[in-house]
Amino acid sequence: MSAPLLALLLQAQPSGLTEHKITNMFNPLSTPTRVMFNMGMLEFAITGAIFAVVAGLLAYTMIRFRKRRDDDSRQEPPQIYGSNQIEAAWTVIPILIVFVIAGVSARSVWGVEDASPPANALHISVVGHQYWWEIYYPAYNIVTANEIHLPVSRNRDRATYFEYTSKDVIHSLWVPEVIGKTDLIPNRVNHTWVDPSQAGVYWGSCTEFCGVQHANMLIQFVVQEPADFDKWVADQQKAQPVPTEISAGQKRFQISGCWACHEVKGTRFNGRIGPDLTHLMSRREIGSGVLDNTPENLRSWVVNPQQAKPGCLMPQSKISGENLDQLISYLETLK
Ligand code: CUA
Repeated sequence: MSAPLLALLLQAQPSGLTEHKITNMFNPLSTPTRVMFNMGMLEFAITGAIFAVVAGLLAYTMIRFRKRRDDDSRQEPPQIYGSNQIEAAWTVIPILIVFVIAGVSARSVWGVEDASPPANALHISVVGHQYWWEIYYPAYNIVTANEIHLPVSRNRDRATYFEYTSKDVIHSLWVPEVIGKTDLIPNRVNHTWVDPSQAGVYWGSCTEFCGVQHANMLIQFVVQEPADFDKWVADQQKAQPVPTEISAGQKRFQISGCWACHEVKGTRFNGRIGPDLTHLMSRREIGSGVLDNTPENLRSWVVNPQQAKPGCLMPQSKISGENLDQLISYLETLK
């Protein structure tokens, strides 16, 4: 493997982070997901106890009072009418159970929603698009896509607060270990927050049907130790070096119209329809999780995104040969 290629691959992997590609809602790693998990477990215990009592009584009755050979089939069992005690019991007990579950749910949901951000909280805006995620870090002036970097937060000291909205239809973001399910709705801003306690890469997905590629609208939460996160921020803030002369690849980017949808900061390319490509090569995936970000995948994606993601809104480029080589080599400079 050539040295530049190796360097490229290493850069695409945040160092030493365990990847959780298979989601697991039984492993909550932040306060909101832990609250939801505990609430779910309590409700599971209550409904489980109800099931055990009802199924137990039913089984007991079926066995104890089953039909026997010497039973007189014309005789009805004793009928009970108008027992105030029994009627009061089966009215009051379910009402109490409903009140307990409603109360616990309300306390859990409001407890999470009412949490106010600590002064130094990180704020991130996420905008849903068919079929990818646009991510803004307003305080750092960073725009990226499909990959949310955030710091580990012990004792809520570096919690992250999110604002969600959508450019087109309703999407919903869920990363079961880290962040609860919240909708991204056009013309509306929803809020949520997290304080992940463990570093790692956590995969999640869009959980509201939004079109043909809904299933390939994946997202990754890259939870990093604070020092690593700060380094990522510094790297993302670096401007692209401005070449004294426009390279052949940049020219190709312009001629082929890539700039009409994609922005590269520090250049005249300022399209806002597709993902910002300023630090494209630092990202782990292409196409919101459909392909690993390798040079070969980048090439096949640029030639025809419809192959890996049929129905996505990026058209076939019809670029080939030397022109394609130039374009790809330009994209590979966006580190
Ligand atoms: Cu976006 Cu489903």
